[in-house]
Amino acid sequence: MVDVVIGLDLGTGGVRAIVVNRDGKLIAQTTKSYPLLTPQPGWTEQNPADWVEASLDALSEVAQHLGENRPIALGLSGQMHGMVPLDGNGTVIRPAILWNDQRTGKAVEAIEAVIPRQELIQRTGNPAITGFQLPKLVWLRTAEPQAYAQVRHILLPKDYLGYVLTGELITEPSDASGTGCLNLSHRQWDEDILKALEFDPTGFPTVIESTAIAGHLKPDLATHLGLPDGLPIIAGGGDNAAAAIGLGISANNLNRGSLSIGTSGVIFAPCDRPLPDPEGRVHLFCHADGGYHLLGVTLAAGGSLRWYQETIAPQIAFPDLMQMAEHSQPGARGVLFLPHLAGERSPHLDPDTRGAWVNLSLAHTQADLVRAVLEGVAFSLRETLDVIHPITPLHQLLATGGGARSHTWLQILADVLQTELIAPKAEEGAAYGAAILAMVGVGAYPDLETAFKILPPVGETVQPQPNSMYEAAFDRYQKLYEALKGVR
Ligand code: XUL
Repeated sequence: MVDVVIGLDLGTGGVRAIVVNRDGKLIAQTTKSYPLLTPQPGWTEQNPADWVEASLDALSEVAQHLGENRPIALGLSGQMHGMVPLDGNGTVIRPAILWNDQRTGKAVEAIEAVIPRQELIQRTGNPAITGFQLPKLVWLRTAEPQAYAQVRHILLPKDYLGYVLTGELITEPSDASGTGCLNLSHRQWDEDILKALEFDPTGFPTVIESTAIAGHLKPDLATHLGLPDGLPIIAGGGDNAAAAIGLGISANNLNRGSLSIGTSGVIFAPCDRPLPDPEGRVHLFCHADGGYHLLGVTLAAGGSLRWYQETIAPQIAFPDLMQMAEHSQPGARGVLFLPHLAGERSPHLDPDTRGAWVNLSLAHTQADLVRAVLEGVAFSLRETLDVIHPITPLHQLLATGGGARSHTWLQILADVLQTELIAPKAEEGAAYGAAILAMVGVGAYPDLETAFKILPPVGETVQPQPNSMYEAAFDRYQKLYEALKGVR
């Protein structure tokens, strides 16, 4: 019998379950998808019952591939910020409202009318933000009073799954700090905030550390899934924190963060103390290593390129688009693109801003247009990095996600960010980080730093080249965003 752990990531598109041995080697994996509901423009929801069905399917499938291996723990990770409201019997009252939902504009204003923005930033690391959980609860109280009257417990997505697996109402700081009401210094609910907003703190789950045991797998589920009865379920981490753990990013090396280019673009910067941006332009959350991290999000990164392909160039494959971009020049021969196709999170916190192309002439070709898209995403991330740099040093970024597979885009990003980028050889995402947290949780390794020794070696390094064309274009990019505010 060989000891293995299970890592599970409850994403927005689907759930991924993996089995990893003590050496960090992948033994089995599967993904199951579920629908995204958009009942009104700007609203995004999912049925927690769909998460449960897909997760149980995924777990029983990997259980069938265990062979001689024996699971010793299961670690959870998942999409952050969502709200799952439960009644006194633990029944879900309405569909979960997700991280990318934009319905809570008025609730955000209502929160900041009661607790000044500066105080919120100082206590929780962030101002009130539309996607966070707390504004959703305020929205529910006003918009659906009948549903609100039944609420006894509020959970985050992965913690709801943990509740189904164990019967325990538990969360951990990396995900809880994305609600908007966790006190970052104490890593516990901020009861002053909850009291000021007239919420009962007992409705929120108990906060334990990310490597702690949240509970044990219920016997009936263990039989159904073919997993050991009483399997320890480790609290785990929000998807960004868990993915960072899977890359070995922690406060022990403050110089190294990560850059993920998926649908959105995310910069993750570890910190050893809760150091918020005084203006709240980037998020500050707890990390799953007991420390903290800054997080900046460009909402449409790979999403901008996908939009380009689907709308402008449906017959051209991504690698060919990248090759095309090589035929333009740094600065895209004057063409600028604002990637705000879904509004923008960092650093503007501006859900109503929109994308743009400017400076087009008859001389420009598709090569310039597509290059401008790649550069526009890089400029947006540079705005975020410029906010992060005065708070914490960051000299190296591990580049992950689909966009990081393109050398062209990686070089543009390295040059615009003026930061060394490293592409990891293997990338298993948040589920892998959840598995590492689970290993430490049951003592397979004494701590995370020791567990990091099993991570696969890193791959190609991309060095930044100084380029005055990018500096000039970035300056114009920033002016363009300000100028377009006047024409909405
Ligand atoms: C982070 C964020 C997303 C979600 C989606 O603030 O909103 O990365 O965690 O998975």
